[in-house]
Amino acid sequence: MDKPWGGRFKEDSSKLLEEFNASINFDKELYKEDILGSKIHAEMLCNIGILTLAEKNNIISGLNKVYQEIEDNEFVFKIQDEDIHMAIEKRLTQLIGDSAKKLHTARSRNDQVALDFKLYCLSKNNEIKVLLLELISTLLDIAKNHTKTIMPGMTHLQHAQPVSFAFHLLAYCFMYRRDVERLFDDYKRNNYSPLGSSAFAGTPYNIDREYTSSKLGFISPCYNACDGVSDRDFALDLLYSISMIAMHTSRFAEELVLWSSYEFRFITISDSFATGSSIMPNKKNPDVAELLRGKTGRIYGNLIALLTTLKALPLAYNKDMQEDKEALFDSCSNIILSLKVLIGMLKEITINKDEMFKKAQIGHITATDLADFLVQKVGISFRESHHIVGKIVAYAESKNCDISELSIDEIITQDNRIPKDVKEVLDLYHSMNSRKSFGGTSEESVREQIEFLSKWLNAK
Ligand code: ARG
Repeated sequence: MDKPWGGRFKEDSSKLLEEFNASINFDKELYKEDILGSKIHAEMLCNIGILTLAEKNNIISGLNKVYQEIEDNEFVFKIQDEDIHMAIEKRLTQLIGDSAKKLHTARSRNDQVALDFKLYCLSKNNEIKVLLLELISTLLDIAKNHTKTIMPGMTHLQHAQPVSFAFHLLAYCFMYRRDVERLFDDYKRNNYSPLGSSAFAGTPYNIDREYTSSKLGFISPCYNACDGVSDRDFALDLLYSISMIAMHTSRFAEELVLWSSYEFRFITISDSFATGSSIMPNKKNPDVAELLRGKTGRIYGNLIALLTTLKALPLAYNKDMQEDKEALFDSCSNIILSLKVLIGMLKEITINKDEMFKKAQIGHITATDLADFLVQKVGISFRESHHIVGKIVAYAESKNCDISELSIDEIITQDNRIPKDVKEVLDLYHSMNSRKSFGGTSEESVREQIEFLSKWLNAK
């Protein structure tokens, strides 16, 4: 029995046990964090006199060698070594001999894995934030050129009121901005070091948790060792934040799918971000947008999977927790690639202003403006005015045209109190620019929103 924990065992492990129990096939992803944590732990052990300077230096140069072997694809990952922590320790022992065996003093794999996994989550948190900022800035660049581009704003996917394309894109910018802020909050809330929690109850050695914590970039050591090894909230926070990003992205992706169809034609996706059909030569498919929409399923699944694994787990560490990693790795890699692809696609997208404008002329989308106009000019209640405009819409429908295409006489016939200068309010630009309220779609309000977001971006 050559396992590090094999002292009390008389028989060798079953092959099935080894296969089932091992996490090395996926937790090798944590090698950087594991080696970094071990180096800082070794420094601390030397500071408090558990390792001599020579032993510490030996360990650090050995860990550097292991690191290089992994980077160079020379490291052999074996299922018998169970996990990345034991695999690295074993290789270190082969490389430097007995001093490697002192490295695990005042440490357990429980705090080691909690540390590695947390460092990993924090670094992915940063990577995702950077991509979100790039996405917001890409959207802002498009928005700046389309403050006058009119499109039909919709509710219930029905033409509702005219808005600018910039205004619509800015809604996504603000959604993604919340995602960035959420990730900042997650980072701060979870930035406490579990290292030194040991198995779960602390350790009799005189360890310096402040030292390891600050060297690793944490605010402080986590305050309760049992919580230190049992906590996976930081992974759940990240999975939730990624789920929100995926949900926001799926809403946007759905619009890109719709907009690129012949029914809308609002945008053209570049050939480099579209695909064809193996049978229909005419097809140009928005696969990228569809996949961005589709990724949401597995990403929500990963969040629910880990929430369920942790449900009702007694304190402290339980092997169930090994199931935390694949879910998180999967969500991280998928959202990172999704964001990169979305940014790439947006940079090459063509906006078909004229089509948007054409479609905005359908659906009586200035009807609310007409109703508001009657309230202001004629002094009637909004309910009464709503009713009058409803009749005008029904009349236009019967003539198969838009209310903006009716003559003044046709409009006035519906109610003789309607003033003669009514046509102006049926104009799309007039409608859009009249919505000057804070956060509205007028050019003025949209410019303010762009300025707000630009300042926020610059401060990040
Ligand atoms: N491979 C384990 C995991 O990923 C490491 C921690 C194991 N600790 C233990 N006491 N078995 O969770």
